Amino acid sequence: MKNIENRIEGKVIAITGASSGIGEATAIMLAAHGAKVVLGARRSDRLEELNNRIKASGGDSIYRVIDVKKKADVDSLVQLACVHYGRLDVMINNAGISHLSRIDELQIEDWEDMIDVNLKGVLYGIAAGLSVFKKQGSGHIINIISTSGIKIVPLQGVYAGTKNAVRTIAEALRQESQGSYKVTGISPGFVQTELADHIKDPIVKAAVKEKSAKIAISPNDIASGVVYALSQPDHVDVGEIVIRPTVQD
Ligand SMILES: NC(=O)c1ccc[n+]([C@@H]2O[C@H](COP(=O)([O-])OP(=O)(O)OC[C@H]3O[C@@H](n4cnc5c(N)ncnc54)[C@H](OP(=O)(O)O)[C@@H]3O)[C@@H](O)[C@H]2O)c1
Repeated sequence: MKNIENRIEGKVIAITGASSGIGEATAIMLAAHGAKVVLGARRSDRLEELNNRIKASGGDSIYRVIDVKKKADVDSLVQLACVHYGRLDVMINNAGISHLSRIDELQIEDWEDMIDVNLKGVLYGIAAGLSVFKKQGSGHIINIISTSGIKIVPLQGVYAGTKNAVRTIAEALRQESQGSYKVTGISPGFVQTELADHIKDPIVKAAVKEKSAKIAISPNDIASGVVYALSQPDHVDVGEIVIRPTVQD
C-alpha cells in the first residue's frame, strides 16, 4: 500500500499566493512531502526567501512573481512548471483578498478587486492548469475557498459571493471532467494569516483580528487538508473539505 509521502512525492504543484499564510504553509508542507513546488505571488522578497528556505531544507522549488489579476502572469507560472519540471500535476488557486464592508457602503472598487483576484484569478488558474491537464490526461485543481460562503454573515457578502462563485464553477468542472481531472475545494474558517491586515475599515479590522487572535487555527491545519486531498488514490476525488476552529460559530 502506498503511503501519504509516496503519493505526493515527485508531483509538480503550482501554488498562487505562496508568499504568506496558507499558501506559504502549504508550499513548505508539500515540499517536505517531496513535491516540486512552483511558487507565485506579487512580493518577490517573500517568494525568494521562501524558495531559499525550502531548498535549504532539501526541498525542490522555483518561483515567479505574478499578479493573478493578469491572465498572462498566471499562464507564465504554469509555463514555468512545464519548462522547469516538464509537467504540472496540481494547480492550487490560493491567492485571495478580503475587503469586508456593508453592501450599502458601495465600496465598488473593493468589490471589483475581490472579483478580479478571488474569482477571475481563480478562473485564470483553472484555465492555465486545464490547458496542461488536457494534454497530459490528468491533473488536480485545488481551490482555497472559505467558510464565508457556507455561513453567510454581514460585511462578507461580496467576499463570500466570490468564494461561492468558485465553489459553483468547480462543481461543474468536477462533473464535466468525468474522471479526467480531480477538483477539490478547501474551505478554511478563521486562520491566523495576514489576510485581515488588509481590511481597510479600522473598526472591522480590529474586530476580525481580535476574534482571530482568540480562535484562529494555524495555516498548517489547512495545508494538512491539501496533503489529505493529494494523498488519495487515483480513483478517489476529495470534493470539499471544511476546516475551521472547533469553536467557530
Ligand atoms: N485567513 C483566513 O481566515 C481565511 C479563511 C478562509 C479563506 N481564506 C482564503 O485563504 C487564501 C489565502 O489567504 P491567507 O489567509 O493565507 O492570507 P494571506 O496571508 O494574506 O495570503 C494571501 C496570499 O495571496 C496573495 N495575493 C493576493 N493578491 C494577489 C494577486 N493579485 N496576485 C497574486 N497573489 C496575490 C498574497 O501575496 P502577495 O501579496 O505577495 O501577492 C498572499 O500570498 C485566500 O484565498 C483567502 O480568501 C483565508
